[in-house]
Amino acid sequence: MYVLGIETSCDETGVAIYHSEKGLIQHVLHSQVAMHKDYGGVVPELASRDHIRQLVPLIKQSLHEGHLSPCDIDGIAYTAGPGLIGALLVGAATARSLAWSWSIPAIAVHHMEGHMLAPMLEVNPPEFPFVALLISGGHTLLAQVEGIGRYELLGESLDDAAGEAFDKTAKMLDLSYPGGPELSALAEQGSPQIKFPRPMTDRPGLDFSFSGLKTFTLNTINASKKSNQDKADIAAAFQQAVAETLSIKCKRALQLTGMKRLVVAGGVSANKHIRKSLTEMTEREHSQIFFPRLQFCTDNGAMIAFAGCQRLMAGQQQGLELAVRPRWPISELSATVKT
Ligand code: KG4
Ligand code: ZN
Repeated sequence: MYVLGIETSCDETGVAIYHSEKGLIQHVLHSQVAMHKDYGGVVPELASRDHIRQLVPLIKQSLHEGHLSPCDIDGIAYTAGPGLIGALLVGAATARSLAWSWSIPAIAVHHMEGHMLAPMLEVNPPEFPFVALLISGGHTLLAQVEGIGRYELLGESLDDAAGEAFDKTAKMLDLSYPGGPELSALAEQGSPQIKFPRPMTDRPGLDFSFSGLKTFTLNTINASKKSNQDKADIAAAFQQAVAETLSIKCKRALQLTGMKRLVVAGGVSANKHIRKSLTEMTEREHSQIFFPRLQFCTDNGAMIAFAGCQRLMAGQQQGLELAVRPRWPISELSATVKT
């Protein structure tokens, strides 16, 4: 089964074709980073308009480069939420219209489920069950995963998402959008001189909070001479604090659930320091860790094509309605296998 996947939830237009047996056939991505840079963040209306410009050419390109024609495609998966409503609507309207005109099913995919399943595109995919840590620009959550759609929320951020904390801290350090990768690059030139707090690690539970860390960072910046070295040291201390906080919570989640597999995905999972810290923790815990390849940590069409393919193969599809959900709790998803 060939599934076309469409991702337009935020500032990347992603298109991919996944085959249920042959794997990933094709994926293309257009990033809007250059367009939003002048504004210091994503401008939703500009994002929607750019998705309109890019999406159909990218679909044509992926079919062409995959040596496929529309009649080869068996289903279309698209991100239906969570995300920016205008951006989601572009993907949904395009996917739903193409599916109707090609007489094939469409399936609405949850963006965070896409992220969570992205490590399954790799050569050594995780088996169920596992603990998942999802760290993106809009979400930070820990879940116990028994199968597709069987997600029990263990903990989540009570305020900023991990990526949001990176982006806001980067702004305080005068770095440009997107802040996460910029902050991470700056941190490599510094060393953590001051110990930053590890929020909510001194009490039980698996929730996160990053807004206090952000305030601590701001106060530290204001108390410093703001030299380039000071900024690099602060970036390193901030990054180390986030990495260690995530590591402590993941270790706790593995111990509480008794699971031996940790899946880490979402944009922040591209961070080298966080990958290293979590990998070392799982080694100490005699557990396995799984990440997507770097380019599939951030938003992409491949994860949507893969997740959609799993649901279409399980017989799921949706009606003709154009449904998007800017807010959509992952715990509301249905399972592909009845228990
Ligand atoms: O998953 P994603 O592409 O989009 C959302 O679903 O939100 O995640 C984007 C987030 C942004 O906050 C970005 O700054 C962060 O991931 N990010 C990083 C790195 N690469 C992307 N954060 C820290 N280090 C990185 N290397
Ligand atoms: Zn994402």
